[in-house]
Amino acid sequence: LDPGFLFKDLNEFGGPAHRPNFSLNVAETVQQTGLVDLKNGRRLRTPVWGYGADTVSWPGQTIQVMNASSGGTDETLVRWENRLGNKHLLPVDENLHWAYSLHGAGSANGVDYRQYSIRRNGVPIITHLHGGKTDFQFDGNPEFFYSPDGEVKGPQWDFTPDGFTTTFRYDNDVPAGNLWYHDHTLGLTRLNVYAGLAGFYFVRDDVDTGIAGNAAGLPAFPYELAYAIQDRMFSDRGALFYPAFPGDPFYDDFITSGGAVLPPDLFPGGGPTALAEFFGDHMVVNGTIWPKADVEPRNYRMHLLNGCDSRFLVTQFVAVDPGVTDPTDPSAGTPLPFWVIGSDQGLGTPAQTDTLVIEPGGRYDVVVDFSQVPANSRVIMKNLGGDAPFGGAFGGGLDPDDLFPDRQTDRIMAFDVVVPLSGVPDTFDANNLPGYQGPTDEATTRRVALFEGTDEFGRLQPLLGTVADDVSGTNVATASTWFQPPTETPSAGATEIWEVYNFTADAHPIHLHLVNFEILDRQDFEYDVTGNQTTTQHNGTTGLAPEISNIRNLAPTAVGSEYFEDAPKDMVTALPGDPDGAPPTGQMVRLKADFTKSGRYVWHCHILSHEDHEMMRVLQVG
Ligand code: C2O
Ligand code: CU
Repeated sequence: LDPGFLFKDLNEFGGPAHRPNFSLNVAETVQQTGLVDLKNGRRLRTPVWGYGADTVSWPGQTIQVMNASSGGTDETLVRWENRLGNKHLLPVDENLHWAYSLHGAGSANGVDYRQYSIRRNGVPIITHLHGGKTDFQFDGNPEFFYSPDGEVKGPQWDFTPDGFTTTFRYDNDVPAGNLWYHDHTLGLTRLNVYAGLAGFYFVRDDVDTGIAGNAAGLPAFPYELAYAIQDRMFSDRGALFYPAFPGDPFYDDFITSGGAVLPPDLFPGGGPTALAEFFGDHMVVNGTIWPKADVEPRNYRMHLLNGCDSRFLVTQFVAVDPGVTDPTDPSAGTPLPFWVIGSDQGLGTPAQTDTLVIEPGGRYDVVVDFSQVPANSRVIMKNLGGDAPFGGAFGGGLDPDDLFPDRQTDRIMAFDVVVPLSGVPDTFDANNLPGYQGPTDEATTRRVALFEGTDEFGRLQPLLGTVADDVSGTNVATASTWFQPPTETPSAGATEIWEVYNFTADAHPIHLHLVNFEILDRQDFEYDVTGNQTTTQHNGTTGLAPEISNIRNLAPTAVGSEYFEDAPKDMVTALPGDPDGAPPTGQMVRLKADFTKSGRYVWHCHILSHEDHEMMRVLQVG
């Protein structure tokens, strides 16, 4: 099986030979994921969508650039060519607020997008560079989508300096970081990403690559790996499977086993419906199901991405006991200590751990020493996500792994330590890494909030909102849908501390575009629920969210050592309290960010099923 892709020589994309302009197609292809037809032994082929220059792939072509201060070009230009056809690979919920449901007054340019359809106009795309500090018109915001011929374009193009283009400019005047790019089309993000539209974009510099003295001995090519971890389901013919409604196979079982019961008649027209969350039953790494890599007994650096829709990964590297009957089963193994050296947007203050939470959308930079285990042994990258004690916090009890214990999402991939040690010296020493310092400017504070409400069909609807003091001197939290006027409006150049209040029963991985931030601390609090507030849905109907006030008794609290947050992050896990308690409790996390550029950005939950169902708001800077 595919051992994952190793970094190419830097000269291919960075440094002197860097070719700053390139064009990537966004198109359908077929790939072998490792599935075999048991009837005839043939490998199954899976239709997927991908990005690439000559041939497209899932995940998309890795982009690697040297940043400007380390000799790279000032900017990279990428033309994103939409070559998708007039049919989606997966069931589309047209009742959501999505690209072709924007209408009249609800779309900022007054165009009624309901006249368009995927069948007539093709699948819209818009590519977001996650972690980039990109001018807003190239940031890949959900209302900047465009159809294959460019004939249909999102309303926000009308408000850009130069109008519509498919060539996006990315600044390289940024620190090294583990960026990734993925589709971000309004109401289609979960499906376009599921179909394959995601890839790595690494910004490198002299320290990160070890070119300018490598005191820490960071492992470099070929001892540096990158793994995009995603969970998927497949049909027995090898096609990607995504449930069209909660009664679809498997979800049937899920519901009768005690999951949320949704009446099947609540979907007008009988069309597919978005799910509250999605958890696949196959772990896929770089497009291959449960792969294996052969490694030397030495330190390897791995850039890990959680590209799942909803699944928090709780990773361990487990040495499988020699002589076990099932060498794919990590349950009896011993977790090895490993170094976490960085996260979303670069190196952090290194920490040693044996368990690491990776939130959906998050990236971690780790160093694993395979010389800790005897030659010829196997190390499994294990996932505890969905198991106790994480099940409650990470799925609200909704993770199907709890209901179907025979699923194998507890394992991600294997490393067989079978390659003889080469002569290249292994001098990794985490203590010689520079460490992390967050933004130091004076900051103002902003309070934002996470809600769980219901939409006009009674479906669970996660929402964002604000906390403000009202005239009576108490505080109230207000929930908003995506299209309502922006409320998060930092001035350009401002430094802000965001207090993110979680009033839901789940953990939500919150992402801000444009910035990186320091995660400062967390506090538990109590609050009152006094009834319901109504929310205005995109189509003029109303939904509901809890009416919340009197947030009080804030008290510092710690998260477990499996969280590594002393690094430049663009993702933060907002953990839940107990909203059913008396009084209900929540948790608030504080982050600090510099808002460097003005323009229309977004912030949202990175559970893709949540951001597609209104858990996303405009971030209007300046
Ligand atoms: Cu990775 Cu707004 O997204
Ligand atoms: Cu969420």
